[in-house]
Amino acid sequence: MSELSVDNLVGIKNLTKQDIELILETAQEFKEVINRPIKKVPSLRDITIANLFFENSTRTKLSFELAEKRLSADVINFSAASSSVKKGETLIDTVNNILSMKVDMVVMRHPYPGAAKFLSEHVDAKIVNAGDGAHEHPTQALLDSFSMIEQIGNLENKKVVIVGDIKHSRVALSNILCLQKLGAQVMVCGPTTLIPKHIEKWGVLVEHDLKKALEWCDVANMLRIQLERQDVNYFPSLREYTKLYGLDLELLNSLSKKIVVMHPGPINRGVEISTEVADSDQSIILQQVENGVAVRMAVLYLLSQKIKH
Ligand code: CP
Repeated sequence: MSELSVDNLVGIKNLTKQDIELILETAQEFKEVINRPIKKVPSLRDITIANLFFENSTRTKLSFELAEKRLSADVINFSAASSSVKKGETLIDTVNNILSMKVDMVVMRHPYPGAAKFLSEHVDAKIVNAGDGAHEHPTQALLDSFSMIEQIGNLENKKVVIVGDIKHSRVALSNILCLQKLGAQVMVCGPTTLIPKHIEKWGVLVEHDLKKALEWCDVANMLRIQLERQDVNYFPSLREYTKLYGLDLELLNSLSKKIVVMHPGPINRGVEISTEVADSDQSIILQQVENGVAVRMAVLYLLSQKIKH
């Protein structure tokens, strides 16, 4: 039977192409399960999972929790805002206290890049990275690739453009790594200030003209403009960003072919994507969210196979 080459999901960087394919194939099986009248399977019965969210989340948190419940795991939830972290407790102390309650797996979102890797090296539980600062968001990239494959088939040589704040985006980094491992061509598009210097060395194309980027691609993944970062002026104004890098219906309809439009959420309607595009039949934003549950079930199930009882 196939198994993952890793014991934890810290990042796409650590996965092989075979690992990614195994996760996506397993997710396809779970997608069929969760579309049945009886959506629950006993695969993780007797496994306890702690969801530790040190940063806000809607989609990822709910999606992991639903995935865990569909697999019949016991679930505990922790939110930093209402915890003793506020009293100065360290990450390791917080996690070890939770693990002493006989927890097998930890799903963690944390504002610091490397937090998931750090935890995987210091605690005796399977760790799943649900986003670590501006570093990686591996399950988002896996669900994005799964959703793309559903729309356009095998990603070998398919063209994907990621638009927006590439510099601060864990979604961008994980997507670039995942898409390249699956054989896709990746382009990034945005203002120079939001594209990391020397990104071409990763084998990524760079285009600053959104219309040209959209004409080139099969799929456009529109990233959220992180409004919380606007204390630093990466572009003159939101209005100017939207004019140059926002995707509206006029631009979408002006293209010579139909492309697939994605967005990891949360959306700033009217900034990086117009309401008409977000709600159009070319947008698969809600399918991405739906697929997130199946993909996270696959990740949890495959990692649970590595637990030694
Ligand atoms: N896509 C994503 O990570 O969304 P949340 O921040 O709501 O989890």
